Amino acid sequence: MTTFKVVVTGRLPEAVLGELAAAGTLWTPPDGGPLSPEELRAAVPGANAIVSMLHDRIDGAVADAAGPGLRVVANVAVGYDNLDVPALRERGVTATNTPGVLTDATADLAMGLLLSVSRRLGEGERLIRSGRPWRFALDFMLGSQVGGKLLGVVGLGEIGRAVARRARAFGMSVAYTGRRRAAPEVERELDASYLPMPDLLAASDVLTLHCPLTPATRHLIDAAALAAMKPTAYLVNTSRGPVVDEAALVEALKSGVIAGAGLDVFEDEPRVHPGLLDLDNVVLVPHLGSATTETRTAMARLAADNVRAVLSGAPPLTPITG
Ligand code: DGY
Repeated sequence: MTTFKVVVTGRLPEAVLGELAAAGTLWTPPDGGPLSPEELRAAVPGANAIVSMLHDRIDGAVADAAGPGLRVVANVAVGYDNLDVPALRERGVTATNTPGVLTDATADLAMGLLLSVSRRLGEGERLIRSGRPWRFALDFMLGSQVGGKLLGVVGLGEIGRAVARRARAFGMSVAYTGRRRAAPEVERELDASYLPMPDLLAASDVLTLHCPLTPATRHLIDAAALAAMKPTAYLVNTSRGPVVDEAALVEALKSGVIAGAGLDVFEDEPRVHPGLLDLDNVVLVPHLGSATTETRTAMARLAADNVRAVLSGAPPLTPITG
């Protein structure tokens, strides 16, 4: 009987590791990871499957280090900018991701950031914890109401649509941009209008980013894009950090080019631009979009199911086809 080698680059829930162990012999990082590129290359020789985390760069060199037995790379994330999919495909390696299971958790977090920044929750919390005196007054720490405002969605995929649904429940209207127009029934459901990017930037009261990171979207939100937004507008990013030029964002937040930002992701994680740390009009959380026990377990299980399917000769459940 063939025993497969499955390299898991980070921590997975125990129950899922148990299920994965049925597929082969598991290799996991002794310290739980994350792995440096050198540690990753040292771990993969002889691997038939790699279960990767979103900061592992899995390219042709890693596949070559694994050798010709590598059949599947299962990324435990919906975003797969860390995989060189064409290089894997050339080597006959299937790549999979985890769409669907993290949609609601990520949309909830985007909505949380939107409310936190527009209602100054982080700032208020810091004030109370600082012990500085405060009193209720009609003009004290006023934020901005979201009801009646326009949410601009960049990328009306599953997560973008889920955020739009939530925003509508808070009384916001919705416009969007993307590579292509959404289906008429999606536009109808959300009462969403399609706008080209420059118009969306100019019209949005809150701009929320849900596009994948690609060469075309890297620094999509740069100094010029920020300057095109309203000075009262907020930016929310739960997609990938490099979609925003962080240095330009710091300047825009400092000088009042936009009103504030809620960020779950950063250009060079886990590093955060030091300029952001000093600003009160930005809410910062450490890549928590999918971070609920239920969602992270579902993501890990889907990745494990993809590995088990491919190693048993069945089609993967959620192959990356793009
Ligand atoms: C993903 O799956 O791409 C998310 O960033 C994880 O939170």
